[in-house]
Amino acid sequence: MSYPWLRGDGRLRHLITLDGMPVAMLQRLLNSAQAMLAHAHGGLALRERLSGATLCSLFFEPSTRTRSSFQLAATRLGMDVLNFDVATSSVGKGESDRDTLATLQAMGVDAFAVRHSRDGAVAELAAAATAGTVLINAGDGRNAHPSQGLLDMLTVRQAKGDDFSRLRIVICGDVRHSRVARSDIHALRALGAGEIRVCGPANLLPDADVLAGCRVHDNFDTAIADVDAVIMLRLQRERMHEGLVPSLDGYFRAFGLSPERLRRAAPDAVVLHPGPINRGIEIDPAVADGPQSRILHQVANGVAVRMAVLSELLEQ
Ligand code: NCD
Repeated sequence: MSYPWLRGDGRLRHLITLDGMPVAMLQRLLNSAQAMLAHAHGGLALRERLSGATLCSLFFEPSTRTRSSFQLAATRLGMDVLNFDVATSSVGKGESDRDTLATLQAMGVDAFAVRHSRDGAVAELAAAATAGTVLINAGDGRNAHPSQGLLDMLTVRQAKGDDFSRLRIVICGDVRHSRVARSDIHALRALGAGEIRVCGPANLLPDADVLAGCRVHDNFDTAIADVDAVIMLRLQRERMHEGLVPSLDGYFRAFGLSPERLRRAAPDAVVLHPGPINRGIEIDPAVADGPQSRILHQVANGVAVRMAVLSELLEQ
């Protein structure tokens, strides 16, 4: 399958998914983000880079990290930023997503970071956007969250080096509802990760096609043995319409990351979680705040990754 989101000149046209992204593009974005890091949290160095361009954050679902870091990333690059508040907008009067996009485009918005509850919604909007407008998928349903996938890979790479073929990584939790897990799996496959383990209760695992190339475990003690990185996922109770988890205590006992369980991983293993974390449900606070946690590094890397993505999409 060829990756449909590239321009004729090989640059990225929109960031919709990491599924099928050429590994050279993935590496280029990671290298660029690493280089941006020095300027990601302040300073004036890159304020001219994208000045005159406008980013709109268009979030049809709640967000703390992703929305804030897109806004900061754009600001660090000198962009104008429009934070579109869906809750108080005419979306509440029934205006369609496409009409909302067209309206904001007409005001001169160049780039949209879009979060939506429906799988595929951002790709559909990208197809409807005018030439030259770029869309970034900031999470669509369960489908993809590519900038999170990139920042997770950057975080692993900083800790473990760039040879992913040496690494064993486990992704544990509510994989079924997680767009983060899907984007992480896409990226890990592309980067040639040595072993991708996926662990969770059977009713929180996705269909087999999502898990291609992964080893599936239902026992976290086995799954975590000797891994170099543990990626924990939030239990997404807002997406569960059925009682998928009978007891939160039972869930923590079987699939929670406690200090004792973490000792089964490689001694220098790192712990990631995309946030927001449910303390005591999928992760023990002692681990979340402990020395192996990279959770706040992920947040810091998020700004740099989003700067790299905006530059890739918008720089002339
Ligand atoms: C994730 C999301 O919204 O997909 N959060 C994030 O972007 N950091 C994960 C989650 O909500 O559990």
